[in-house]
Amino acid sequence: MKEVSIKELYKDDGFKKYNDEDLTINGWIKTNRDNGSLGFIELNDGTFFKNLQLVYDKDSEDFEKISHLATGSSINVIGKLVLTPNNKQPFELKVIKIKLLGDVEEGYVLQKKRHSFEFLREIPHLRVRTNTFNALYRVRSTLAFAIHKYFNEHGFVYVHTPIFTTNDAEGAGQTFKVITDKNKKDPNSFFGVPVDLTVSGQLHVEPFALAFKNVYTFGPTFRAEESNTTRHAAEFWMVEPEMAFADLKKNMEVIEDFLKYIINYVLVNNKEEMDFFATFIDKDLYNRISHVLDKKFEIMTYTKAIDELKKAVSEGHKFENNDIYWGMDLQSEHERYLTEKIVNGPLFLIDYPVEIKAFYMKLNDDKKTVAACDLLVPGVGELVGGSQREENLDILSEKMKKAGNYDSLSWYLDTRRYGGCVHSGFGLGFDRLLMYITGISNIRDSEPYPRTFGKIKF
Ligand code: 4AD
Ligand code: MG
Repeated sequence: MKEVSIKELYKDDGFKKYNDEDLTINGWIKTNRDNGSLGFIELNDGTFFKNLQLVYDKDSEDFEKISHLATGSSINVIGKLVLTPNNKQPFELKVIKIKLLGDVEEGYVLQKKRHSFEFLREIPHLRVRTNTFNALYRVRSTLAFAIHKYFNEHGFVYVHTPIFTTNDAEGAGQTFKVITDKNKKDPNSFFGVPVDLTVSGQLHVEPFALAFKNVYTFGPTFRAEESNTTRHAAEFWMVEPEMAFADLKKNMEVIEDFLKYIINYVLVNNKEEMDFFATFIDKDLYNRISHVLDKKFEIMTYTKAIDELKKAVSEGHKFENNDIYWGMDLQSEHERYLTEKIVNGPLFLIDYPVEIKAFYMKLNDDKKTVAACDLLVPGVGELVGGSQREENLDILSEKMKKAGNYDSLSWYLDTRRYGGCVHSGFGLGFDRLLMYITGISNIRDSEPYPRTFGKIKF
């Protein structure tokens, strides 16, 4: 007998070719109801967002037993596919036989009622079975694939940068230290030097750009930021491309092209999931996303942004931090004001003050600003952080002496000593991107097993 998946039945009206055929399928019961002579099971097999409706009646073997099957049970069903063009669902499976594979104990919480996101966060191993999280992590998977596809099609080489590292790439002092069970007393005894979990693969991927031209790394990164926000996690995934012979302008062109490509890929390949998010999570989703796809991303200098924020304050807008001055580090309330109120769409902020950005960014001719580009988007704030890199050995050496990493990062300077060139790159926060695309408003939900300040489950 033919074994099918629910996806195969729904996609491109695949069910039509099985009219009147006996089929078999494995899955989990979402709901089961009956009126004594006729019963309906909503079955999901994990391959598709929608359920398959099973219909059983007194002709089905064991009507009594079937009607007592609990929500969550795994079953194997054999049934006949029938077309039901007048019903909500265009087809259903008329049950011939059901075999219970895995029963459900009492106390199973995922019954047919709505649970809050907060409650579901306590059970990450079970929430993935709900519609929202099933859709979310399917989109997450598609998105990761789209990222590899984009870079592969554009000739980028994929580099596996390490997770253990001896350097703090961003120099922000937010690293997690690595110790072993045995060497708690002398943390350096394993590697011989202090080791951290990486905050960014950039410093390790740059040397590859100077050998392959266009490269990227995509993996988990770790930051001990003690901030309890909806957008910060201690462990998150980042995509970091790096391009030789590319300046800041080229960098921004790639960011824009790349984002449009992957968002479009998700829209085409996860249509049902995106419709779900647009209906239940964010009514403005398609409108918001079409802005991204159709419009050219705007570019604004940091200096202009400060002017805009000052103007907003003088016109009576109240930020929590209302003290706006050139040289300040923008808070997410400021970033969101700029992207939501001023441009209502993605916005590149460029040319930040040198003091508030990482040591490796290229100093502009004004000597006060660096060739950085942060991409801000409505709802999320900073989605991408990128820059042209400082290729001048003397300037970079000076900056590194000031930052205190000149000695420990001597190897990094080799990329400037030997055949250095203009090069640029960026880091895209993958978990934030998923929030942005689906409208899910908390990073604790966009990550399968979130690790955030003060909280880790399993
Ligand atoms: O702006 P960031 O710190 O840039 C870098 O790490 C550079 N080395 C990237 C590069 O040029 N190769 O981080 C990049 C992005 C941010 O824009 C944000 O989307 C995300 O990573 N991010 C976080 N996401 C979740 N939780 C956190 N704690 C994050 N910190 C940064
Ligand atoms: Mg940043």
